[in-house]
Amino acid sequence: MHLNSVPFFLVLISGIFCQYDYNPDDYGYERYVPSPSLCAPECDCPINYPTAMYCDNLKLKSFPIVPSGIKYLYIRNNMIEGIEENAFENVTDLQWLILDNNHLENSKIKGKVFAKLKNLKKLHINYNNLTEVVGPLPKTLDELQLSHNKITKVSPNVLEGLMNLTVIHLQNNQLKGDVLSGAFRGLNSLLYLDLSFNQITKLPTGLPRSLLMLYFDNNLISNVPDEFFQGFKVLQYLRLSHNKLEDSGIPGNVFNISSLVELDLSFNNLKSIPTVSENLENFYLQVNKINKFPLSSFCKVVGPATYSKITHLRLDGNNLTRADLPHEMYNCLRVATEISLE
Ligand SMILES: *[C@@H]1O[C@H](CO)[C@@H](O)[C@H](O)[C@H]1NC(C)=O
Ligand SMILES: *[C@@H]1O[C@H](CO)[C@@H](O)[C@H](O)[C@H]1NC(C)=O
Ligand SMILES: *[C@@H]1O[C@H](CO)[C@@H](O)[C@H](O)[C@H]1NC(C)=O
Ligand SMILES: *[C@@H]1O[C@H](CO)[C@@H](O)[C@H](O)[C@H]1NC(C)=O
Ligand SMILES: *[C@@H]1O[C@H](CO)[C@@H](O)[C@H](O)[C@H]1NC(C)=O
Repeated sequence: MHLNSVPFFLVLISGIFCQYDYNPDDYGYERYVPSPSLCAPECDCPINYPTAMYCDNLKLKSFPIVPSGIKYLYIRNNMIEGIEENAFENVTDLQWLILDNNHLENSKIKGKVFAKLKNLKKLHINYNNLTEVVGPLPKTLDELQLSHNKITKVSPNVLEGLMNLTVIHLQNNQLKGDVLSGAFRGLNSLLYLDLSFNQITKLPTGLPRSLLMLYFDNNLISNVPDEFFQGFKVLQYLRLSHNKLEDSGIPGNVFNISSLVELDLSFNNLKSIPTVSENLENFYLQVNKINKFPLSSFCKVVGPATYSKITHLRLDGNNLTRADLPHEMYNCLRVATEISLE
């Protein structure tokens, strides 16, 4: 009896130590632990994650009372339509506000409710009923996720001055035509911008040169202005698949971007292969109308150290067969492990 209880006791002890291993506040001197009675009664404030409050899947129609000291607030999968101006009056420490899957509408989000959150880093309002980008937003913001809404516009100044913003998700909205020009200007920390699954017809001007990943797939873009990507020195992933790109809309060197690792131009109307940088590794061109394979699109010159770094090249769903591939191809495409034609 006594011996049997020893292993159980050890498990209990290690469980207690584990709590502290996962505490995000262990870096500093903070040891704020709100008493459980301070948690909103319908929500969950885990003892091993004391600055987080979870109010997911509760069919809530209005905001719960948020006690002071909460930094990470999750209110996902509820039926909240609006946010009162004072909703966060006691939670100025809030860093993450996660509101995915609610019924939030712009007109019911009152006053400057987000701008008052002077420590806010992540704001997620994916899968809601927004028709425009919420704002004003605090300058501390790092990540803004507003995918799967009904957003038709991004007001010109709503993102202005958000110097620390690194991630924007606006995929699956109703952005149409040329509504974004200048909207992202000056966001000098931006690394990731997802505008896929909209009805955008023009690439917006003023995109930050800091971008690493730029996703415009599933839109209505027919051309890329000459020198559009000039100055993008760190861009690695560019997706323009499922658009209306044609040869006439693609000036000679527009995709010859030396930092690019992956370029997706699949499901367009291209007849020829655009020129790309020798550094490109993954090139997706499936389902276009390509009927020739000039090596000059990949290698201007070929030498011991000058060759294309492409490993994966997809050309299936075009008008090309093995016979169209030039014999000297492997001098240029010498590291290609996969070239798919059908
Ligand atoms: C803020 O805290 C005060 C005092 O505890 C309380 O009366 C008030 O209802 C709280 N406000 C919100 C919006 O939770
Ligand atoms: C979203 O808003 C529209 C009006 O813009 C309204 O008709 C619809 O019922 C709302 N949907 C939800 C889930 O709130
Ligand atoms: C932006 O980030 C830097 C580095 O993390 C930080 O020092 C600075 O205070 C932030 N600026 C704002 C406005 O939050
Ligand atoms: C891409 O542009 C560079 C100059 O920026 C040039 O040296 C290189 O030959 C070009 N690549 C191709 C395949 O034309
Ligand atoms: C496919 O390419 C051949 C030449 O390689 C050309 O004769 C034919 O018209 C092309 N078909 C289509 C549908 O573009």
